[in-house]
Amino acid sequence: MSRQLKLGAFLMATGHHVAAWRHPQVPANAGLDFAHYKRLAQIAEAARFDTLFVADSVAAPTQNIASRMARSDHFEPLTLLSALSAVTEHIGLIATATTSYNEPYHVARKFASLDHLSGGRAGWNLVTSDNAAEALNFGRDAHIGHAERYSRAREFHQVVTGLWDSWEDDAFHRDKASGEYYDPAKLHVLEHVGEHFRVKGPLNVARSPQGQPVIVQAGSSETGRELAAQTAEVVFTAQTSLAGAQAFYADLKGRLAKYGRSADSLKIMPGVFVVVGQTEAEAQEKCETFQQLVEPEVGVALLGRMLGNFDLSKYPLDGPLPELPLTESGQQSRQKLLTELAGRENLSLAELGRKIAGGRGHYSLVGTPAQIADRLQEWFEQGAADGFNVLVPHLPGGLEDFAHGVVPELQRRGLFRTEYEGRTLRENLGLARPGNRFV
Ligand SMILES: Cc1cc2nc3c(=O)[nH]c(=O)nc-3n(C[C@H](O)[C@H](O)[C@H](O)COP(=O)(O)O)c2cc1C
Repeated sequence: MSRQLKLGAFLMATGHHVAAWRHPQVPANAGLDFAHYKRLAQIAEAARFDTLFVADSVAAPTQNIASRMARSDHFEPLTLLSALSAVTEHIGLIATATTSYNEPYHVARKFASLDHLSGGRAGWNLVTSDNAAEALNFGRDAHIGHAERYSRAREFHQVVTGLWDSWEDDAFHRDKASGEYYDPAKLHVLEHVGEHFRVKGPLNVARSPQGQPVIVQAGSSETGRELAAQTAEVVFTAQTSLAGAQAFYADLKGRLAKYGRSADSLKIMPGVFVVVGQTEAEAQEKCETFQQLVEPEVGVALLGRMLGNFDLSKYPLDGPLPELPLTESGQQSRQKLLTELAGRENLSLAELGRKIAGGRGHYSLVGTPAQIADRLQEWFEQGAADGFNVLVPHLPGGLEDFAHGVVPELQRRGLFRTEYEGRTLRENLGLARPGNRFV
């Protein structure tokens, strides 16, 4: 069968547009409404999406303007996906968990549990925290610096995957006749001692259906790419142009060989913000409805956060983007992307804030299903993407538009599955099941 693209549904309570919660068709209380998420999961699964994807931050925004955004109350991702695992059968469940403010044992245990609960559909989006406010919730006065966060992340990954191999696949034979619950020869105690962590092990969860949950990453700086090349199986990235996405794709795939990895052992899925209409005019009009709801100060607050935790409220709204230092606390790749965008299009602060109010800098498509499918096909066939993480302005409406319009168009073109290939997330993504390092 010819190569087909992968699709993730990036869920965000009321939707990705910062003003979506104010739209008449959007349930403003969606962040803590399980029935809402259940519906989203079922729409995505009926459309044969590979995964649900949930981002995270372990802090709520506290600046004054935060009271005008729907960003302060939502489910914790692993808890939410564990509940969704009970009402879905095929779709992958990718939760974000930070390596900066967690312990590896907790993370290994929770994701192994999700993999068991879901019959092999768990994925871990390993992030280093791009929100400086998180530090204040974990006994620190300031966020851990960029390089240190990545150093900790690398070791964190080693420990988590080591713990996932604590038991061989058939270690627990639970033999009632002999009285032996597990075979001691198939237990492996990690005994990790490193720069950041000391973890004895073993994990108190048997090796999970996928052997190891799928490792997802979303850092795109130089250090982020190197960590991804070494450890990630799916990479989520923000790209604005075909040429930029092609360069990122070639660069990252080109780094795999030195770690003994093949090009298809890592799937690159840029984010794409999509507004779908029956006609192009209808799609534009739909997009404009959301844009009209953006208060300039809200757009600029979102911009400051995405640029790397800067307070831009003291700068004039109609002035240019001020010169900012390289962010230590946020995403260096996104800072570069947004700064280049402001320069290229000569945008004022308020205009840039408004421009990214929907997709936060991700590639944006507004049009008919066929127009959108054309661009996705182009990126997929021209070495820019193995698939896409789909962001929609509002939920559930935007996801329904994509599922009922764009997905059938991709299927007609033979670019997307009509049935799931396997039972586990690895099988559907075409990723090998990892062997146990101790065997
Ligand atoms: C597309 C994308 C999505 C991300 N999602 C999250 C997230 O949900 N939570 C988080 O703490 N960090 C998130 N990050 C940031 C990662 O933590 C990243 O490792 C860190 O900010 C450093 O990024 P950099 O390598 O581009 O500098 C995301 C990054 C990108 C590029």
